[in-house]
Amino acid sequence: MELTDQIDMSVTDLIKRRHSSRTFASIRLSDHVIEKIEMFLNMHEEGSFHTPLRFRLLAATEGDPQALRQLGTYGFIKNPAGFIIGAVAPGEKNLEDFGFALQRIILFITSLGLGSCWLGGSFARSRFAATMALAEDEMIPAVVAIGFEAADNAARRLIRRLAKADTRKPWDALFFDSAFGKPLSRESAGDYETPLDMVRLAPSASNRQPWRVIQQGAFFHFYLQRTPGYDKSNNRIELLRTADLQRVDMGIAMCHFQLTAEELGLSGMWQVRPPEHLAADAALVYVASWHAAE
Ligand SMILES: Cc1cc2nc3c(=O)[nH]c(=O)nc-3n(C[C@H](O)[C@H](O)[C@H](O)COP(=O)(O)O)c2cc1C
Repeated sequence: MELTDQIDMSVTDLIKRRHSSRTFASIRLSDHVIEKIEMFLNMHEEGSFHTPLRFRLLAATEGDPQALRQLGTYGFIKNPAGFIIGAVAPGEKNLEDFGFALQRIILFITSLGLGSCWLGGSFARSRFAATMALAEDEMIPAVVAIGFEAADNAARRLIRRLAKADTRKPWDALFFDSAFGKPLSRESAGDYETPLDMVRLAPSASNRQPWRVIQQGAFFHFYLQRTPGYDKSNNRIELLRTADLQRVDMGIAMCHFQLTAEELGLSGMWQVRPPEHLAADAALVYVASWHAAE
């Protein structure tokens, strides 16, 4: 089922409207909103690459306003009305599937007029794990704080929205035509100009924007540009049992790309088939390709 069946706003508008909110008004979610979110969460039991997924809304309740605080997000998320927690089982593309599904959920939440912020590092994993009754082989790669944005944020939000394009790498550093190093022109991108523009607006951990896309005919190959020194921190990831957030970032970008393509009536599908004879930097890791239908 498509996101547009659930909401009456365009995906591109939602993508442009979304930004990270970290300060919320002390307003709880109404039962009606909670119900809507829970219904939407229950639709995400499997990712595009068949990873089993589980999502849960943990909403602040009237009787227990402190409950969410104890979950520990180290103070810089103010007054969240709730958290979306997701659990993922092992699987080859499990973190990409997780990022894709949770970003789709965030766009739905944006359509309800709520603000959100991905949290990949700064949350108390063990407490969220207990809340999710995490199975032995499952993990929580990230959670999302949600709530109504504080009123005094409105002006700042407008400024940030206007400046948003400036917080992203330029188009020609992200999208390539047949060979890395040869930027893709907007004309050559054709119908896919807007889906690629929406990739560029995707959120990413520490705003690192690790996504690179190379077009070859009907294929858009998605690569992950590893941040230098990442391997070292990968060891740390193993020790702390935290997730490889750059793979989550890739799923988020793929979500923006696919939902925008669908809205434009462009069909295609994801495949995992690395292109042959494509010289890529060692720090570029192939993830998946969108095969556009003729
Ligand atoms: C996987 C992931 C993890 C993130 N983790 C955090 C976090 O722990 N703390 C935080 O304040 N922001 C976090 N962010 C938010 C990013 O910093 C933010 O998306 C980025 O700076 C771009 O800004 P925007 O979301 O307003 O477009 C995370 C984003 C992603 C996608």
